[in-house]
Amino acid sequence: MKLFLDSANLDEIREVAGWGVLDGVTTNPSLCSKESVSFEDNIRRICALTPGPVSAECVSLKADAIVPEARALAKIAPNVAVKIPIGIEGLKATKQLDGEGVAVNMTLVFSAGQALLAAKAGARFVSPFIGRLDDVSEDGMALIEEIVQIFENFHYQTEVIVASVRHPRHVIEAARIGADIATVPFAVMQKLVRHPLTDIGVERFLADWGKVKK
Ligand code: E4P
Repeated sequence: MKLFLDSANLDEIREVAGWGVLDGVTTNPSLCSKESVSFEDNIRRICALTPGPVSAECVSLKADAIVPEARALAKIAPNVAVKIPIGIEGLKATKQLDGEGVAVNMTLVFSAGQALLAAKAGARFVSPFIGRLDDVSEDGMALIEEIVQIFENFHYQTEVIVASVRHPRHVIEAARIGADIATVPFAVMQKLVRHPLTDIGVERFLADWGKVKK
C-alpha cells in the first residue's frame, strides 16, 4: 500500500520523506492557504521533495477553464497530478486531460457512482473522503469497500486514494480492504508510528542495559 502525506507544509513533507515511507503528497486549497509561500512555488518545492505524485487542485468550474488551468499546473513539475472535483464539467475535463497524458486525481468523491464515472473518464486517481462521510453519520470505509470491489470487477487502472483520514484505524482498514493509497495528515502519520508499549519497552530495556556487566 502506498502512503501519501495530506499536507502542503514543506517541513512535514521533508520529515516524513526522511522516514523513508513517503510515496506521494496531496494538497488542497485549504491546506495551501495555511502556507506563506506562493501556491506555485510551494507546489514546485513539494514536487522536488516527493518521490511520487503531488496533487495540486484546480479551482476553475467549467471544463474549458479547468483544462488550461490543469495544463499549467502539470507544467510545474513532472510529478504533478491535477486534482479536479467530480462533476459533469470535471468529467469532461478529465477525459480531455487523460488523452493528453495529464494525471488527474478526481476529488470530493462521496459515492461509488461518482468513483465509477471518474474511472470511466480516465482519472488516474479517485479520492473518496471517508472522514467527512463519518462526520455526517455515514460509513466512509463501506464506500472504500464498494469502490475497491467495483474497480477490481472491471480491472480499472484508477487508483483509490483513501482521503479525509482522521485516525490510524482508517489507514489500517484501508490497507485491509486493499485500497491502493491512503493520504494521511501529519498528526495521524505520527500516531501510526508510536505505541505506548513500544515506549515502555524501550525505557525498560535501557534501564536493564544499565545493569549489564560490561
Ligand atoms: C484529500 O486529498 C484531501 O486533501 C483531504 O484528505 C481532505 O481531508 P479533510 O476532510 O480532513 O479536509
